[in-house]
Amino acid sequence: MSNPRFRAIEGTRDYFGKDGDRFDKAVAFAGELFARYGYRRMRTPVFENTELFARSIGASTDIVEKEMYTFTPGSETITLRPEGTAGVVRAYLQHSRDKQGGLAKFWYEGPMFRRERPQKGRQRQFHQIGAEAIGSGDPLLDAELASMGLRYYEYIGLMNVKLRVNSIGCSRPECRPLYRQLLRDAIRPNLDRRCRSCQTRYERNALRIIDCKNPECRKLSANLPKSYENLCRECADHFAAVKEALAALGGEFVLDHTLVRGLDYYTKTVFEYTHDALGAQNAIGGGGRYDGLAEELGGAPIPGLGFALGVERILIAMEAENGCACSCPLQVFGVALGGSARRAMSGMIARCRGAGLSADMDYEKKSFKSQLRAANRRQAMVCLILGDDELARGEIVVKDMAEGGEQKTVSIFDCLNAVRAALP
Ligand code: HAM
Repeated sequence: MSNPRFRAIEGTRDYFGKDGDRFDKAVAFAGELFARYGYRRMRTPVFENTELFARSIGASTDIVEKEMYTFTPGSETITLRPEGTAGVVRAYLQHSRDKQGGLAKFWYEGPMFRRERPQKGRQRQFHQIGAEAIGSGDPLLDAELASMGLRYYEYIGLMNVKLRVNSIGCSRPECRPLYRQLLRDAIRPNLDRRCRSCQTRYERNALRIIDCKNPECRKLSANLPKSYENLCRECADHFAAVKEALAALGGEFVLDHTLVRGLDYYTKTVFEYTHDALGAQNAIGGGGRYDGLAEELGGAPIPGLGFALGVERILIAMEAENGCACSCPLQVFGVALGGSARRAMSGMIARCRGAGLSADMDYEKKSFKSQLRAANRRQAMVCLILGDDELARGEIVVKDMAEGGEQKTVSIFDCLNAVRAALP
């Protein structure tokens, strides 16, 4: 076993082989599916002004208080993005997309950074695939987005993803502020029996007490008032319309009043996708509405909503479900023996690639048997076999690698046709 001098930093990792292929598949399928819903790709910088994240995610959230990678390399304080929404809404406003009116739909993919304690499904550099729809408060859009996430998981072959939905209302006094007070009143009598983090959250972020994972706190939370039963008229109507539309789109979901999310920008609908293979970190994706965010960042009061799906957690779920094992079979593998044959094979492989086929050959000058083994490892569909003798006769062997597949000797000039005929 090699003992390299440098290793990837804890909480970061390398992607290649099976996971690399799965990663590519997760991103490619997102681009393809989201385009059908009208989303276009946006790329934003990996670092932004720290203040952007403090304002949008919320100064008293775990992310902003403890988890951001913040630097002051010159006169500016910058932070590696812990999530993608803030940057997308910043860009939307900066480029005056709001002035054009109408709904803007963006999707993105890339690395995010949070200084959390690494564990299964939780990294310090992780990747999200996200979608944001800015410019409409229509509940039909909440349903469309939440069901697009479900379709996406199905599309990449994941069958065991569940959707949990809640509404946390808005900032009108008779909505979330009133509910927060109700909640505090219900929590106060047993506050001293709760964990330390619940006690500190009581004043600053009482909603997060409901999703505390501590078993003792969970028991105490069983009968707390539910946010979706204490909404203002508008938020209640909105939530009813979201649930109806989601059911009509065939999006199965469960109501979960403990779902409050860890970012402050949310209003009204919030949702999370979960997968059992993930253990403690069972959220494979999550999102919701953020109708006050554009205004918080200095724009007009423009409603919006979105979600982000964790790529690392998708990979874990893919591994667990096996069904979506992603392999990249090769169409053509070149087996060549002898110097002239190897050079000729290199030209043949280039011709195959030029004709749009995936093709590769042996570059280690291995024995005939080892080259065939390599072809099998690469799941090659067709092998081209060439020795200096065949080359002298202007011939090449085309071997169909499927079980019971034929082997033919053809003229080198006919090789591409023979390969095409042998491919499924
Ligand atoms: P979030 O729930 O913080 O939401 O993250 C979304 C997803 O990213 C999680 O469900 C999880 O799959 C993945 N994730 C988060 N942290 C980690 C980590 N440390 N390691 C691995 N995966 C992780 C947001 O980020 C919001 N911006 C989502 C959103 C978009 N809301 C509206 N628009």
